[in-house]
Amino acid sequence: MIEARAINATAVRADFPILGRTINGKPLVYLDSAATSQKPAVVIDIMDDYYRRYNANPHRGVYTISEEATAAYESARQRVAAFINAASVKEVIFTRNTTEAINLVRYTWGRANIRHGDRILLTEMEHHSNLVPWQLLAQEVGATLEFLRIDDQGMLQLDELEARLEGVRLLAITHQSNTLGTINPIKAITAAAHRAGALVLIDGAQAVPHLAVDVKDLDVDFYAFSGHKMCGPTGIGVLWARRALLDAMPPFLAGGDMIKRVRLHEASWNDLPWKFEAGTPSVRRSTTSRISGWTRFAPMSAPLWITRSRSCRTFPASSSTVRATPRSMAARSRSRFPTSTPMTWRRWSIARGSRCAPGITAPSP
Ligand SMILES: Cc1ncc(COP(=O)(O)O)c(C=O)c1O
Repeated sequence: MIEARAINATAVRADFPILGRTINGKPLVYLDSAATSQKPAVVIDIMDDYYRRYNANPHRGVYTISEEATAAYESARQRVAAFINAASVKEVIFTRNTTEAINLVRYTWGRANIRHGDRILLTEMEHHSNLVPWQLLAQEVGATLEFLRIDDQGMLQLDELEARLEGVRLLAITHQSNTLGTINPIKAITAAAHRAGALVLIDGAQAVPHLAVDVKDLDVDFYAFSGHKMCGPTGIGVLWARRALLDAMPPFLAGGDMIKRVRLHEASWNDLPWKFEAGTPSVRRSTTSRISGWTRFAPMSAPLWITRSRSCRTFPASSSTVRATPRSMAARSRSRFPTSTPMTWRRWSIARGSRCAPGITAPSP
């Protein structure tokens, strides 16, 4: 359960240079951290420092600044591995964002393992980044998509889970809904999926910034998230996956760092994690996770809907607490503040965002 705690808003604002701006003569208030968070000065400084002092291609140069770039990039990976309690840095693949991480799984594991007639189970609360990749894969190989429904309280109908899992190859599910704020009890859901023989991919774009995510404890198979929603820069994200799965998966993009040996007619693949990191990586962006970027900032910036939540339930046979925002509350908020309406309130200029979960507005099948 997420508890509300008093924060010193003035001190927090001072860390974020952008909040020094005024718009329409009023100081900026930014409420769209679920879309992308603002960046504290320390993150901006560390990216600047990279270009000023040690910009070089990592893994390739035998000179000081390339070695420094390599060390910065790989120590960022170690920090991320510790942040999510990964068993090994080899399981941490840098991507551009959550969307690319999910598409990596679609193109590699998905194409190799999902066959005609197989079933992929999603939920109605998925962001389109965890929906469209599976629509395309299903169309490509002739698989079917199924959806766990949500109720009027914005909760997954988990009493249907065991029955819906029958014959499913992959369950792809969000840890925390970007639209409703619902936190799904992933550990219990994963245990049920594994009992049914399905693998589990988690869209952690909203959860990693707000919850203490432990991939070993959750026991999931794939976990995807983005740096830019947790005070890091845009253009850097992570796919965590079990090592045995990554070992067996074919590469995603080809060229550059993902190659071990290359001849005119053939190539062999680099070791993990570089097998999935083609081309020159974003050292500058990854370095921010090495110092103090990529911060979990709950409850400071937990979506307002969560802190206003009235419903609270637990999934049977699980100690995870689920806290959700009623669908009606989301609808009320939408009608009061239609998307892209410029907003000012008292002496503040407010920035807020939209939802990207098509299943929540669509009528249940
Ligand atoms: C739940 C969820 N999944 C996936 C994404 C996509 O993240 P990105 O645009 O960083 O790939 C978002 C972005 O808002 C999200 O909220």
